[in-house]
Amino acid sequence: MHIPQTGLVGCGVMGSALAQGMIKGKKLKPGSLWLYDRYEESMVRLAKELGARPTSDIEELCQNCELIFLAVKPQDMAAVLGELKKHLKSRRLLVSVAAGITTGYLEGRLPEGSKLVRLMPNTPCLIGEGAIALSPGSAVLREDIDLVKELLEPLGVTVEVQENLMDAVTGLSGSGPAYIYLVLEAMIDGGVEAGLNREAATRLAVQTVIGAAKMVQITGRHPAELKNAVTSPAGTTSAALWVLEEAATRGNFIAAVVEAARRAGEMAGESGDD
Ligand SMILES: NC(=O)c1ccc[n+]([C@@H]2O[C@H](COP(=O)([O-])OP(=O)(O)OC[C@H]3O[C@@H](n4cnc5c(N)ncnc54)[C@H](OP(=O)(O)O)[C@@H]3O)[C@@H](O)[C@H]2O)c1
Repeated sequence: MHIPQTGLVGCGVMGSALAQGMIKGKKLKPGSLWLYDRYEESMVRLAKELGARPTSDIEELCQNCELIFLAVKPQDMAAVLGELKKHLKSRRLLVSVAAGITTGYLEGRLPEGSKLVRLMPNTPCLIGEGAIALSPGSAVLREDIDLVKELLEPLGVTVEVQENLMDAVTGLSGSGPAYIYLVLEAMIDGGVEAGLNREAATRLAVQTVIGAAKMVQITGRHPAELKNAVTSPAGTTSAALWVLEEAATRGNFIAAVVEAARRAGEMAGESGDD
């Protein structure tokens, strides 16, 4: 696959994760990645770490790159698009990670024929275990999607979804790590209450979550089936599940995802989304 010269606008938390994943995962050669950020210090630091090419001139980045990742905050996107529109050649591929900003909004503010892909990554991308949703805009070709998926491979799992489902993605995998941290915290506290020291409780709880998730991933079996397999009649797991069901834990998780998705839609509206 031909990997073009690639640009990154915005070298903050998510931009750095993208750049590190693509270079350290050997999807991009360091000299093929151009970096631009109005905050020069973070750009220069990232360029030194990765051997990538920093530039303080967005025009230079536009001239050299066929593919550009946009990783600035949603409220800074309009300013970046204004600059890109002046310098971008036609039919460039742009990949945005800005929450709530649609491909339609981006297309309307860039040269005609610009190809837009929208991503919703989550923070485990920082350690190569991300869940990333991808939605293509109207001008994007299958080969563009394949290219983006290939580049993102070191950051985690990529799932293609229709753009109108991006709020649902935010509610599930975008905010999702926080739900699991809450579960972990509670399980650790439970272990401590039952007499374990905190270090042992933490190691056991973390590995239990990793192990259970991998069981679903590797066996392909339904979570309910795997749950039933560890629930013997009148046993310990059954007693615990009864407590969780009585507290409507499952229903509350469903409601939490739906509420986060609803809030994502509300926030997209507040940010002047199309
Ligand atoms: N962090 C996450 O977990 C996460 C998850 C999913 C999606 N995202 C999305 O990722 C995007 C970036 O988030 P982040 O957390 O990485 O933000 P961040 O750490 O603040 O990084 C953004 C960088 O872009 C720079 N910037 C702002 N305006 C610019 C401009 N006009 N030209 C060049 N550079 C500019 C910022 O500079 P200043 O510091 O000077 O403002 C900053 O260095 C957001 O749109 C967010 O919705 C983030």
